[in-house]
Amino acid sequence: MTKLLIFAGSARKASTNKQLAALAARTAKEAGAEVTLIDLADFDMPIYNGDIEADTGLPENAKRLKQLFVEHDGFFIASPEYNSSISALLKNALDWISRPHTENEPGLWAFQGKVAAIGSVSPGALGGLRGLVPLRMMLSNIGVTVVPSQVAVSDGFNAFDKGGALTADMTAGMLKATVAQLVGTTGALKRDA
Ligand code: FNR
Repeated sequence: MTKLLIFAGSARKASTNKQLAALAARTAKEAGAEVTLIDLADFDMPIYNGDIEADTGLPENAKRLKQLFVEHDGFFIASPEYNSSISALLKNALDWISRPHTENEPGLWAFQGKVAAIGSVSPGALGGLRGLVPLRMMLSNIGVTVVPSQVAVSDGFNAFDKGGALTADMTAGMLKATVAQLVGTTGALKRDA
């Protein structure tokens, strides 16, 4: 079965991107995937510093997170837009787990051959769309196949109902299509591998 790791790039308890991640997890399960939903707040790590890496190696939480990436076939990332880019939390986590830490480890082991879908939620009118551009580019550059569909949810503080569903038909449809592409592409690449 296709295994998906799903998380948001925000540590905030009431994060709207965590709401999107939770909804994506529910949708992916309905589409037949096995899903692990995690909270990056549970993987606290220092800002990347080559001296820390040289002195003590990867922080334990970076190793734990990297292991989860390795064990899954694909990812859904709900990424808040910070100043037209991604959050420092998300970038820092990806930077740490991009580093080798075992002997003869394949390059970018946590990412290569994997599939991702991306989405964002913002209180603004563009739904965090501008931050998805650098995220898509970065993931592609480190060997991840990013599916063409994506979802950007505007007016984020009013976008979900009490049950966690998206209230607007358009964004609800975009999420469903994006998750369907993620599950389909991940399954197809796994079969070809
Ligand atoms: C923001 N926010 C924001 N929103 C946006 O649409 N475009 C932007 O460029 C930015 N820039 C930005 C920078 C910083 C430093 C912060 C803290 C916030 C607002 C952001 O979308 C909003 O805080 C979301 O609610 C964050 O996502 P979570 O925490 O709800 O998932």
